[in-house]
Amino acid sequence: MGHNVNTYSNDIQEYSAVFAKTYLGNYNWEEYPRIIDDVIVIAQEYVDNVMKSYPDLVFDYTDITLNEFNALEQLQQDLISQNFEDIEHHLFIKNYSGTYWSFKQCLWIDALRVAAEEYSNSPVYYPLLSSIMYAMAYNAQSTGHYAQYRDANNIASMEDIIIYRNKSILPFFKKKLNELIEYTGKNKYNHTITSLDYIDCLDHTPNGTIVYADPPYTFVHYSRFYHALETLVRYDYPDVLFKGRYRTDRHQSPFCKKTTVTQAFQEMFVKIEEKKSKLVLSLLYP
Ligand SMILES: C[S@@+](CC[C@H](N)C(=O)[O-])C[C@H]1O[C@@H](n2cnc3c(N)ncnc32)[C@H](O)[C@@H]1O
Repeated sequence: MGHNVNTYSNDIQEYSAVFAKTYLGNYNWEEYPRIIDDVIVIAQEYVDNVMKSYPDLVFDYTDITLNEFNALEQLQQDLISQNFEDIEHHLFIKNYSGTYWSFKQCLWIDALRVAAEEYSNSPVYYPLLSSIMYAMAYNAQSTGHYAQYRDANNIASMEDIIIYRNKSILPFFKKKLNELIEYTGKNKYNHTITSLDYIDCLDHTPNGTIVYADPPYTFVHYSRFYHALETLVRYDYPDVLFKGRYRTDRHQSPFCKKTTVTQAFQEMFVKIEEKKSKLVLSLLYP
């Protein structure tokens, strides 16, 4: 569809706009023949600088007991109280070490985020951010989202978590970016991608469009599952709360609350009718 017609894509979460911009973008990759190597050079330099300032932050998971493992995790989790003010970009090492990711994985997430920022005035910025999010997903020890990270309560769970702790961010980042370079290119359409509330988005769409709505299906807010992706994209050092280290400002959707869901749907139907548009609604039946 992104290669056949102008579209409007909207989701209240900013990370979702990054994916939409990635897949609907217009690229001339030939302008960036060495982009992967160039990004790695910047990221590696950042990693080296941090390790020069903090040489003790090395956490080795080889041949350890359950108690040693949990102590190692705790040491990393405690980095949240360190200020790291001497390092300009330290969001992930501070907020998430020893949780969904190890310190080392967080270091590489920060490093690649720093490198991506060098491209913030180019469309390739979005594939770079998407590739970091892909690597985050495949390195996280949680179960496909960021609502909670797992605890090691026994040897079996520890061993499983260690599999994820021993993964590296960089190969996953490279794999996804290579795929995006291969599968994206020129796109002559003028897509509009926003991070608005759905009513504001509908206000911006022209009359007589086809609206495909895919609202939340459950009482659990999406922002609880994907807060870490939102933070990667915004990189705004949010206050975080609870074991899951959720952003305190995470979005609460009217579609996920019993008291507001009926009105949320009604307002959507009324607005679409006012706009003389047609609706395709995705629904999930239990
Ligand atoms: C079922 S998911 C759809 C995800 C998307 N269609 C996809 O396939 O990846 C529901 C989405 O609605 C978004 N959402 C929830 N409340 C919203 C609101 N008030 N305005 C805009 N988007 C909202 C959530 O952030 C979530 O990503």
